[in-house]
Amino acid sequence: MNRSGLLHIASLLTITLTAASGHAMPADLYFSMAVTENSHNHAGSNLLFLKFQEKADPSVIAPSVVISPRVNGNSIKMDGRLDDWDQRWFTTLESRVMNNYPLSEFYDATAVPIQIASAYDQEHIYFAVRFEDANHDASLQRRQWIFDGTQWHNAPHTAVRPEAPAGHVINKDATLAGREDEDQVFFMFPMVDQEGNFRDGGMGCGGYCHPNLVASGDPKTHLIGDETAGMHTSLPGDVADLWHWTSTRSNLGNTLKDGHIVHGEGIFNGRMADDGQSPDLDNDLKAQNKDLPSQPAFISVKDFQAGNYAIPGFKTEILRQDQAMPIPAGMNFAPGVQLPYSIVRPATGSRSDVMVMANYDPGTFMWTLEFKRALNTGDAKDRAFIPGPSPLPPTLPAVLPGNPERGAKLFADLCKSCHGEQGEGKFENGAWIAPPNQRASGSLIAKTTSINRIERLRTIAHEMAPPKRLMSFVPISQQDAEDIASWLQRQSTR
Ligand code: HEC
Repeated sequence: MNRSGLLHIASLLTITLTAASGHAMPADLYFSMAVTENSHNHAGSNLLFLKFQEKADPSVIAPSVVISPRVNGNSIKMDGRLDDWDQRWFTTLESRVMNNYPLSEFYDATAVPIQIASAYDQEHIYFAVRFEDANHDASLQRRQWIFDGTQWHNAPHTAVRPEAPAGHVINKDATLAGREDEDQVFFMFPMVDQEGNFRDGGMGCGGYCHPNLVASGDPKTHLIGDETAGMHTSLPGDVADLWHWTSTRSNLGNTLKDGHIVHGEGIFNGRMADDGQSPDLDNDLKAQNKDLPSQPAFISVKDFQAGNYAIPGFKTEILRQDQAMPIPAGMNFAPGVQLPYSIVRPATGSRSDVMVMANYDPGTFMWTLEFKRALNTGDAKDRAFIPGPSPLPPTLPAVLPGNPERGAKLFADLCKSCHGEQGEGKFENGAWIAPPNQRASGSLIAKTTSINRIERLRTIAHEMAPPKRLMSFVPISQQDAEDIASWLQRQSTR
């Protein structure tokens, strides 16, 4: 027998051995992925399909299909570099803006192309993600403390860089609180999905997106967003696994904030932490006791001993819990001293299930991230990637980034009568008649206009805050919703 014949038998043997030793392929699934520039405004795809493969076949890659071929254990080195990934395995997402703060005190998201790949071996699943940072900054300063000589404040937010993709957004001059300075990457994997969001043509994470702006007060006196951040599954029992990587809070611990999302109503935030210790601790007296003022609680032992806090403008970059000490009573800080808001510590338990190695390149403004988790953690709050029945791959075309000209016409015909010329809403006698929707995402519009939501809300009328009136069913497609959103997001909120 010639050499290639031998090789052929050898590869057949490998397959048989693999099957015999019980390492069958995990079931395919629908999932969601989003990238957030500075905390609130995210872009990505609410519905993707993950196709496991015994042998890599990149020909099935589509705007909504990500492949996960089998690799040999240890062939992927966790180092935040993607040179050991086959470049043909990457899917480029038709990324869309998915923010949901309709009067947006935050500046808008920009849909940068996001590339994603996956792989699995006998024990682990891997993901690789890379994207150009929308504001060309690594955003490592969420809520950074700064001392003005008398008091502590949150350092100003990194301004929008004119040359960055976010440089053209319409509300780029909005004043932002420094607490938003953080990039994030979200994955959502369904576990119980009776509502059918994770299926061909379903809404994916869009079915759970932040609802109910009606609960917000007068936009002139109240920041829209404060009371509206609720995010939860729509039916009791539905639950999804949530991977939440954060550039400030979990990055230094090489992990992410592993959690899950459960059912709730109205403004209830159904995002729950998995069991175990979080990789971050807030450096804030108020976080430890809400009767205390909001100010830093800890400093670095090393910088304290070196007398650095007497130097104007001195900055402690990273604060680790085992190298931190409480601020001594009566201590004086020089003006301009900066302290981190997040204290780094080891995550434990199921909170630390996912290992993440991330790398920001200030030359190319690219983030690259590698994720690794056990296929089955054994925790009921984690999605297990195990063999089982697979849903069929998507047949409907992926929802594409919106067409604003088409959206303008749809809005004028179908929405303007209630939501106003530019989606500014109608606020009369202290209540919204129809809320503002200028920064609503396509996902939120699709969810709001869907008959499912109307039917569900009718049965739980108590979820409705004043004005206790429901939007009527507007029969539009998800692509229509995306087109409307892309026009709305170009309208000024001032
Ligand atoms: C007949 C009046 C009316 C029309 C027409 C209408 N809306 Fe609404 N809309 C409302 C009311 C009332 C609410 C608040 C109650 C609710 O959420 O159902 C609302 C809420 C919303 C919300 C916020 C949902 C939330 O959870 O906070 C969005 C987004 C929205 N509408 C988008 C649209 C779009 C896009 C159109 C056109 C395709 C449209 N609406 C047409 C009256 C209307």
